[in-house]
Amino acid sequence: MQLLFATSNINKVKEIQSLLPEGFSLLGLNDIGYNGDIPETADTIEGNSLLKAQFIAENFNRICFSEDTGLEVVALNGRPGVRTARYAGEQACNQDNISLVLKEMNTITERKARFKTVISFFDGKVFKQFEGVCNGCIATEAIGIDGFGYDPIFIPDGEVRTFAEMTLTEKNKFSHRKKAFNQFLEYLKDNK
Ligand code: IMP
Repeated sequence: MQLLFATSNINKVKEIQSLLPEGFSLLGLNDIGYNGDIPETADTIEGNSLLKAQFIAENFNRICFSEDTGLEVVALNGRPGVRTARYAGEQACNQDNISLVLKEMNTITERKARFKTVISFFDGKVFKQFEGVCNGCIATEAIGIDGFGYDPIFIPDGEVRTFAEMTLTEKNKFSHRKKAFNQFLEYLKDNK
């Protein structure tokens, strides 16, 4: 089965590719020649995830899935949340976002946080959603060079290392994205 993943983020494509069982293949938006932006104007992670799948389904008439991920920090009342990609501003890069979170958490000892991924799937008729959560905490400094996004400041529960200090296989043991994707795969297998 060939799945179209409504993202241009090569890191996300790489992660999902590492989770594909035999018999599945994956295309990203680059593979179908689309390099534009997809609107992310909803005020929830679930809403943005849905918008991406809807956009591709409506504009390309293709069965696809999408995902939206947010980092929710307890002491910041759930921020960055739906603003995770643009936390330090519309043009912010990963480093800007990480710096802002670390600055806001500077004097805070309660460092619990979680990543939440919501996958949306359009099967040609209805939309389905699958959620995966990874609980952990925010490190006191950015450590590690692997992964992407906020990985250098996120330590999953049961570990002392950040995601950015782990191989992809190690990150997958905890990953929010893997948990959501596994549910999606179960759905696909049950509804073949
Ligand atoms: P979006 O889901 O593409 O909108 O990404 C939201 C933000 O979360 C971006 O800043 C990503 O870099 C970041 N992000 C998404 N997934 C992960 C992850 O697995 N680890 C660290 N950061 C992530």
